[in-house]
Amino acid sequence: MAPTFTPRVFSGIKPSGGLTLGNYLGALKRFVETQDKGTEAVYCIVDLHAITVWQNPADLRHATRELAAGFIASGIDPEKSVLFNQSQVSAHAELGWIFNCVARMGWMGRMTQFKEKSGKNSEKVSLGLFAYPSLMAADILIYHATHVPVGDDQKQHLELTRDIAAKFNNDFGVDFFPLVEPVIEGPATRVMNLRDGTSKMSKSDTSDMTRINMTDDADAIATKIRKAKTDSEPLPETSEGLEDRPEARNLVNIYAALDDRPVADVLREFAGQGFGAFKPKLAELAVAKLAPISTEMSRLMQEPDEIDRILGRGAERAEAIARPILEQTYDIVGLVRSR
Ligand code: TYM
Repeated sequence: MAPTFTPRVFSGIKPSGGLTLGNYLGALKRFVETQDKGTEAVYCIVDLHAITVWQNPADLRHATRELAAGFIASGIDPEKSVLFNQSQVSAHAELGWIFNCVARMGWMGRMTQFKEKSGKNSEKVSLGLFAYPSLMAADILIYHATHVPVGDDQKQHLELTRDIAAKFNNDFGVDFFPLVEPVIEGPATRVMNLRDGTSKMSKSDTSDMTRINMTDDADAIATKIRKAKTDSEPLPETSEGLEDRPEARNLVNIYAALDDRPVADVLREFAGQGFGAFKPKLAELAVAKLAPISTEMSRLMQEPDEIDRILGRGAERAEAIARPILEQTYDIVGLVRSR
């Protein structure tokens, strides 16, 4: 009989560039909701993933601490949840290697994010970028995590995580790694680019006007929303009316997610109104929700030593869960341990 695994949540965010509204609504805000439900949760700043693309070392250090500040300012309590940066727990990289030997080249080659990121340049990108999903599987499975809250763009990587767990279990005749459940929920699982409602809001887009950063001030947030692409129709009464209107749908989804309301409820309030009326309301709401977070992030960033202390303590707690699972994995694989 398959073992039952105690529910445990794991998720991660890369410290490359700053945090966007997409990261906040698709991931961070939902991490806080999970924490507040009381499930054991491990949250990781995945710095080893960030370096699959070259990072300036000083910028990487800054982005790591700023992301930690973003987690805490958003409501992650480092006493309740485990919060740390990946490179401080070497078991991730060690299990990542084992999974490199389980996963198949063909599986990695099919990853749409790899194809998008490597583009026509696939011979020139790092080997790490290609192997990235097997390290991601290790991040999750080194904790025997069962639930992984993410945005929609990570779905394929989580399916691959299940494939790796299933192949490992099958190859070694064990029921050792759980098959994780992706948790992709709420109105903002895919926050779109403010200038093009058919592509994702991303920290790597060259134009800053396409995204809201968690460090943007009130003026920047209001300007970006005012200039966001829309259409000339009034808002519809039901969400079916947003189907062929990607930009309108995106702004309504953002409103609903920020205000913790269903989309239908937002449409009931704004149906019949145009963007001239809706955008200022959205800007007001976004500033009200995001400004306290960015103010708290700046405050926390005044004390980098305190952030490092929190990450170090989180890493110790993470290590205490991960190390025994790594040791059992080594035993299953047949690697001799004699010290
Ligand atoms: P990353 O750093 O690109 O994004 C972090 C989280 O933010 C979500 N997200 C979005 N959600 C909605 N709309 C958007 N526009 C948007 N942009 C980003 C992502 O879905 C993600 O949940 N590979 C991962 C990091 C990772 C990880 C893990 C995640 C490494 N190991 C293990 C979960 C479990 C990544 O690059 O996320």
